Amino acid sequence: MFDWKPEYSVGIAAIDTQHKRLFELVGQLHEIARTNDGFDHYDEIVKVFNELRDYTVYHFGYEEKLFEQYNYDSHETKIHKLEHGGFVNKMIKIGQEDLDKNEKKILLNVIMFAVDWIEKHILHTDKKYSDFLNSHGVR
Ligand SMILES: [Fe+2]
Repeated sequence: MFDWKPEYSVGIAAIDTQHKRLFELVGQLHEIARTNDGFDHYDEIVKVFNELRDYTVYHFGYEEKLFEQYNYDSHETKIHKLEHGGFVNKMIKIGQEDLDKNEKKILLNVIMFAVDWIEKHILHTDKKYSDFLNSHGVR
């Protein structure tokens, strides 16, 4: 669930590396969330969560720059950017409201939401640009 799998490959090395990093960060959050040592890990959780949010913003920007650079289909670009924007907004909202409650159940829900979204987005939305970008020499 928290490991990047070969079936996630979009055929572009830099983007696969970025996707691996996203899974790594969500996996780190999950590790912290399941730690049962009696200590409060709130600060650590917020730190990794913010890292995930910021890295997501960087990664989405990287993809969107490629769309622009190679003139990717305007309709696909629009839908894709909307998905990216929706996720970032949700992450910001979670950071402001949900994490504040410092509850394990909420954190686990957030983690499941994030990993599920990332997986679906890669498989159903990112993969659509593979052939197009590959045909422009982006690999
Ligand atoms: Fe994307």
